[in-house]
Amino acid sequence: MKILFYDAKSYDELSFNDQLPSYPDIEITFLKDDLDMHSAALSHGYDAVCAFVSSDVSAPVVKVLKDCGIKLILLRCAGFNNVDLDAAKKAGIRVMRVPGYSPETVAEHAMALALTVNRRIHKAYVKVRENDFSLSGLMGFNFYGKTAGIVGTGKIGVAMARICRGFGMNILAYDVYHNPELADFVTYVELPELFSKSDLISLHCPLTDDTYHLVNKDSIAIMKTGTILINTSRGALVNTTDLIEGIRAHKFFGVGLDVYEEEGDNVFEDRSDEILNHSTTARLLSFPNVMITSHQGFFTREALEAIATTSLDNAMCYINNTPSCNDVE
Ligand code: NAI
Repeated sequence: MKILFYDAKSYDELSFNDQLPSYPDIEITFLKDDLDMHSAALSHGYDAVCAFVSSDVSAPVVKVLKDCGIKLILLRCAGFNNVDLDAAKKAGIRVMRVPGYSPETVAEHAMALALTVNRRIHKAYVKVRENDFSLSGLMGFNFYGKTAGIVGTGKIGVAMARICRGFGMNILAYDVYHNPELADFVTYVELPELFSKSDLISLHCPLTDDTYHLVNKDSIAIMKTGTILINTSRGALVNTTDLIEGIRAHKFFGVGLDVYEEEGDNVFEDRSDEILNHSTTARLLSFPNVMITSHQGFFTREALEAIATTSLDNAMCYINNTPSCNDVE
């Protein structure tokens, strides 16, 4: 099987090439360009394309892929909101994804952000490099004995709850579904109670119509003054304008964001030579108690290995014509 791999970064090539010797029936060509209307035609002569969260897999692109003879779209990510599934179905193209890979990877990053903003590690790093060994502006608070509020207790939320338990925190959670794995040490409450009682709030639910702008003016108003908010899930869970107002009103001790509204043009791009015109991102970056990372929650060796092996196993399912729970329909 010949696969054209779109939007290939050096770490993608490394992780897939590491696994390829175990898959002699598969050949991959890595392409730097992402999949879109212009680049779709390059898939002529291949059996499958491998795409990512940023790829355009809309109906017109699917049509070009079909005309090029593509029979399989391998998504090397969990989300598939960028794929027109109806169009793929009509075109007879199978779509497969990687539904979960190392939930601890994202949960550990959430805790890294929480610790960073709490103990002002991002400030301390810069201060010491400038020979400023004073402690001004660096005082944090203990997580031990405080309350963590976990919104969404699926795979990543469970991992985050376990990490918080390791820190000796009391744990509140909100989810539409109560996870029995957490019964021993987590108390499920309604969202307003979670917001009003938590010292650390970490978001781990998907972005849906119900969760869009879950953190907004009203929810911020009931949060404790001095709480820490962490979002490693999806940017639009938080209304950024309301968040900025909350930060200005000294509501938050710290805010850690791996995802944020407006991140689209930034994710995985080096834009250091550009004058950016995204004003809300720039405003967020101007606050000393805000730490932003660029959607790197998934980025560990273990997760990349899991993404590569699952994607290649998905391709083998296609070759062997076997059904899979990784099919997206
Ligand atoms: P999951 O599907 O295992 O868990 C999601 C949980 O959210 C489920 O328990 C579900 O019942 C709950 N949920 C659904 N609607 C809800 C609502 N209205 N209110 C509260 N909870 C609700 O997903 P997983 O693997 O834990 O991933 C969580 C999120 O993490 C993903 O949706 C994705 O947005 C994000 N993510 C971020 C990454 C990063 O690099 N920063 C990487 C991977 C995932």
